[in-house]
Amino acid sequence: MLAVIGAMDEEVTLLRAEMTDVSAATHAEILVTKGDFKGTQIALAQCGIGKVNAAICTQMLVNLYKPDALVFSGVAGGLLPNMQVGDLVIASHLIQFDIDLTAFGRRHGELPDSDRMIQSDPGLVEKTTEAFDAAFNGGADEPNLMIGTVVSGDRFVEDSKTLRWLQREFGALATEMEGAAVGYTCQLNAVPFVVTRGLSDTANESAPDDFKSNLETVCKNSFRLMERLIPAL
Ligand code: ADE
Repeated sequence: MLAVIGAMDEEVTLLRAEMTDVSAATHAEILVTKGDFKGTQIALAQCGIGKVNAAICTQMLVNLYKPDALVFSGVAGGLLPNMQVGDLVIASHLIQFDIDLTAFGRRHGELPDSDRMIQSDPGLVEKTTEAFDAAFNGGADEPNLMIGTVVSGDRFVEDSKTLRWLQREFGALATEMEGAAVGYTCQLNAVPFVVTRGLSDTANESAPDDFKSNLETVCKNSFRLMERLIPAL
């Protein structure tokens, strides 16, 4: 069984529409759709926005559906100057950027007794990269793919000062609101995971408008990636 999570309706609806033999269940107010996605059994959950929702959803899926692996697919704000809306990012590493124990000499994002970097499963990162090549190979509409650190916090980033800080402090490519919580929960449960994100905005002053106008289009790119990845797992 493969667990698949998205935060918002737009991030899961295209996947749900392609599923067959479905059964639906609700746990902790989270809708889980179980069924076949192009030959692979999946449990697809819409977790809601933010790290708390993401952690609750991940732990629930691990306990009730006992997945062999977990994939998170959604959108993010890009942090590098030349990034384009629609580009895809695979998180090789994730950090909770709003963990702040600097008062006790820790680095931003660092909890006692654990590294601030949460690592996606390297085998899943490789399979996601191969899925990207298969999905977009040579097409005129091919987005860029970047692999690196993604940061998560309970905050929609919409200013140049914060986006620069996230890039410089964490070496991050993109910012979002769930990935590190999903990764942390998977790490504690020894479940291999990967987080992928399509860029809906560049986390600057126009991010709220960009997010709204690009969300649906960007989710189509993420869907094309998932269409290739899920059957390969
Ligand atoms: N998801 C998409 N864009 C985002 C942003 N700018 N900040 C946080 N989460 C996001």
